[in-house]
Amino acid sequence: MKKIVIALDGYSSCGKSTMAKVLAKSIGYTYVDSGAMYRAVTLFCIQHNFFQGDRLNLESLRKEIKNIHISFVNNAETGLSETYLNGINVENKIRSMEVADKVSIVAAVDFVREEMVKQQQEMGKEKGIVMDGRDVGTIVFPDAELKIFVTASPEIRAQRRLDELIAKGNNSSSFEEVLNNLAKRDFIDSTRKDGPLKQAEDAVVIDNTSLTMEEQNEELMNLYHKAIL
Ligand code: DC
Repeated sequence: MKKIVIALDGYSSCGKSTMAKVLAKSIGYTYVDSGAMYRAVTLFCIQHNFFQGDRLNLESLRKEIKNIHISFVNNAETGLSETYLNGINVENKIRSMEVADKVSIVAAVDFVREEMVKQQQEMGKEKGIVMDGRDVGTIVFPDAELKIFVTASPEIRAQRRLDELIAKGNNSSSFEEVLNNLAKRDFIDSTRKDGPLKQAEDAVVIDNTSLTMEEQNEELMNLYHKAIL
């Protein structure tokens, strides 16, 4: 059967990664969470004290960028792909509020994007991949056979993110904090110079504010079947 590249872009916490994971599993494709890569670089910056408040030491990061190796390893127990930074599992650490708060700053750095895009394009060379992010359909795979742009209301997104944090045992963030963090990230992500969050002209839009999981998955499968014709 024809193998394709599927790009899923959209705002933070609108359910993109859940959609991408479910789709990839149903069709036997590899799932790549491109946001996890920017989060892992951010964690590296925090661990190496490259941040002073919101100020990032670009020179130190530039020197180290080639020493930041990100990979994804399938957890045999859960069946889920987990993020590794220089050989260490950082899947939980990269989901913290501390990383979420700084990641847009790192993701706006041109040489970071250049390096991540290069690695992402390499991962998609053989096709058979579902990648979610912000610039996947526009910059990483402009020729992707299927491009989906996902949206949902800010309040629904904040509630989903809060539920996710609580499920992971992080009870220290309020709804307002999460909503503000999302608004700040949306602003930085969509106004940056390199690879801004933008809907590709040929992307199909899915607003999942009031869609059930089943409806959403059905829509995705329909789009996939059309794309492989
Ligand atoms: O999808 P996420 O929330 O895990 O993404 C984390 C951050 O990384 C988010 O602020 C946007 C950025 N990002 C990006 O700039 N380009 C991508 N392809 C994916 C994520």
